[in-house]
Amino acid sequence: MNILLTGGVGYIGSHTAVVLAETGHEVVLYDNFSNSSTDVIHRLTTIIGSDLPFVQGDVRDTARLTHALRTHHIEAVVHFAGLKAVGESVIQPIAYYDNNVNGAISLLQAMQTAGARTLVFSSSATVYGDPQYLPFDEAHPTSAINPYGRTKLHIEQMLCDVARTADHWRIACLRYFNPVGAHESGLIGENPKGIPNNLMPYVARVASGQLPHLEVFGADYSTADGTGVRDYIHVVDLAKGHLAALDFLRKEIGWHVFNLGTGRGYSVLEIVRAFELASNRPIPYRVAPRRMGDLAAYYAEPNRAKTVLNWQAERTLQEMCASMWRWQERLSRTAVD
Ligand code: NAD
Ligand code: UFG
Repeated sequence: MNILLTGGVGYIGSHTAVVLAETGHEVVLYDNFSNSSTDVIHRLTTIIGSDLPFVQGDVRDTARLTHALRTHHIEAVVHFAGLKAVGESVIQPIAYYDNNVNGAISLLQAMQTAGARTLVFSSSATVYGDPQYLPFDEAHPTSAINPYGRTKLHIEQMLCDVARTADHWRIACLRYFNPVGAHESGLIGENPKGIPNNLMPYVARVASGQLPHLEVFGADYSTADGTGVRDYIHVVDLAKGHLAALDFLRKEIGWHVFNLGTGRGYSVLEIVRAFELASNRPIPYRVAPRRMGDLAAYYAEPNRAKTVLNWQAERTLQEMCASMWRWQERLSRTAVD
């Protein structure tokens, strides 16, 4: 299939590009490089062994996007492009609604014009809000407590409405839990600008000596060791979930929601210990106050993806940490920034 990945040069998009290209799909990357660089494209070429076509463009540029869809005879789109930092979304909500919601509207218009009706959307477990029960299944009520989460909810609702029209859209909404790790080659991975907000990249930089210690945001939650619990999923497993969703959409029309998680939660301190083991480095940490807006614990009910998509996460926490460490060592060596 000819598949366009918006935001395909980013962290999850680049790993998905590898999985799709290795399965024989024709992949086209579409990115404005607001949170990625052309270096990634060269490294993708090394991994895949051939060049991937890419278009530099913004998803809000409907004409450019339509042109890209037509030129490359695109049959399906995976929509990764967007802004994703929760804290930043509180400070700059307009930028988030513009990029994420307007970006999705522009994409739908371009797809409609170009006659492409198959779409996989990157959503987030953040749309479940405060757990009313755990694990989160796809029927759990949705709500959002920050502008980033609200953009995801708005887009989900919009896509659901579009999928109900008579135009035979095929839309899969994938709710990611906590993607971590990197490609086994150590050539691509997540490289947040400045000080990382998320746990794993922060821990990786402490292990490499670039940051002095981790701050554990709260050790008084009602979890086994008092620290926050999340469902971490290897980014390559997550990438394979997109392949499974695209295969599924060949047969099904309409709107379909799937959790992509492992179903298993790990605490912050379990992550610290696993990373110490993988890196063979100490991770000094200090307990700090809770971070505003954080939930104590949540994890996925992944059964729907298993039974309907025939997909499940396979990689262990050790593999997540080991691949992350391999990538971090490469970053430290080459001082890529
Ligand atoms: P990322 O920032 O690494 O990748 C996003 C890519 O989109 C970047 O290459 C960026 O340059 C590009 N982009 C941003 N705005 C654009 C625009 N207007 N036009 C064209 N390109 C644009 O992020 P990621 O971690 O790969 O996340 C991908 C998607 O998954 C996002 O939609 C994010 O909200 C969602 N998601 C991520 C996580 C996570 O923890 N990483 C969790 C849940 C959901
Ligand atoms: N944490 C620390 N210290 C840090 C960073 C994080 O103790 O320096 C803790 C947090 O308090 C939390 C856990 O580590 O308990 C995980 O935090 P992350 O920031 O890595 O991830 P979140 O679960 O808070 O959020 C992430 C993304 C969201 C997304 C959500 C679900 O940032 O955008 O996963 O996909 F919505």
